[in-house]
Amino acid sequence: MTARQAITVATPVLPEKMIDRLAAQFALNAPPTAPMPAAEAVADARRRGAQALLVSVQNRLDAAAIDALPDTLRIIATVSVGTDHIDLAAAARRGIVVSNTPGVLDACNADLTWLLILGAARRAAEAMDYIRRGTALCPLLGTRVSGRSLGIWGMGRIGREVARRATGFGMQVLYHNRNRLPPQGEQGALFCPDRADFLARSQILTLHMPASAATDGIIDAGVFAALPPGAIFINAARGSLVDEDALLAALGSGHLAGAGLDVFRNEPDLDPRLSNHPRIFALPHIGSATVETRGAMAAMAIDNVEAVLSGAPAPTAVT
Ligand code: DGY
Repeated sequence: MTARQAITVATPVLPEKMIDRLAAQFALNAPPTAPMPAAEAVADARRRGAQALLVSVQNRLDAAAIDALPDTLRIIATVSVGTDHIDLAAAARRGIVVSNTPGVLDACNADLTWLLILGAARRAAEAMDYIRRGTALCPLLGTRVSGRSLGIWGMGRIGREVARRATGFGMQVLYHNRNRLPPQGEQGALFCPDRADFLARSQILTLHMPASAATDGIIDAGVFAALPPGAIFINAARGSLVDEDALLAALGSGHLAGAGLDVFRNEPDLDPRLSNHPRIFALPHIGSATVETRGAMAAMAIDNVEAVLSGAPAPTAVT
């Protein structure tokens, strides 16, 4: 009998059923309950001659980690659409395929974006503190969402889903993107190619662009200053897009009325100035965290592993 191919599971996000699917075919490590540090994942892959490595956004694989992976390794499958936690150039140099999970989390991420918009605008976290203190008497006033303007920066699949959901709120929806979309993809949103004009008209600004070296810190003091006074800032994309000191300054001066964040620059570590800020409605990167979506993402990641380990191309390869 030939030995089963080995796989290193470094992410804790795989549902039980998906672990069973993997275990039925491959030799697995004990799946971790927290993201496995890169050094540990590399050590496990080397020790067992792993051919596939399963990760998610909180497993950072820089060039040094990728260079240290064993020669047996053929695919890094991430259970995420974002791949900014993986040095893709280093993987390509080693001839390691990287796959992601596009398309299956768009609706879920857009739903979460609306939770952030409503939570931040209506000061839900602060209001819930009154409930926890045992009173339903709350003097706080939030910002109305209906009828406002919504600026969507990045009109990919998730941005378009966010725009579609804005219809019911009677909002004026604007978008800023590298290119104008064909009219049927615009979801009724107005293309604003001029960044300053787009920002000046966005009473609520939400980010939906990918993280890259080019977008690192793109949301800086100048961007916040260009928003109308009392604006609400939303980020369910990536923490690295934002200069977090500039965000705190814009909240501190009162120029921003609030922010809704599902992502942070150094996650899973949190800057307490952000996580304890009364005007930040903060969630721990749960954009795709539903049973349905995480199940579909895990299934897609495993499809990629099965394909590559059987000699076929990865269905959703990014390298
Ligand atoms: C992704 O897939 O990139 C999401 O951020 C994970 O929740």
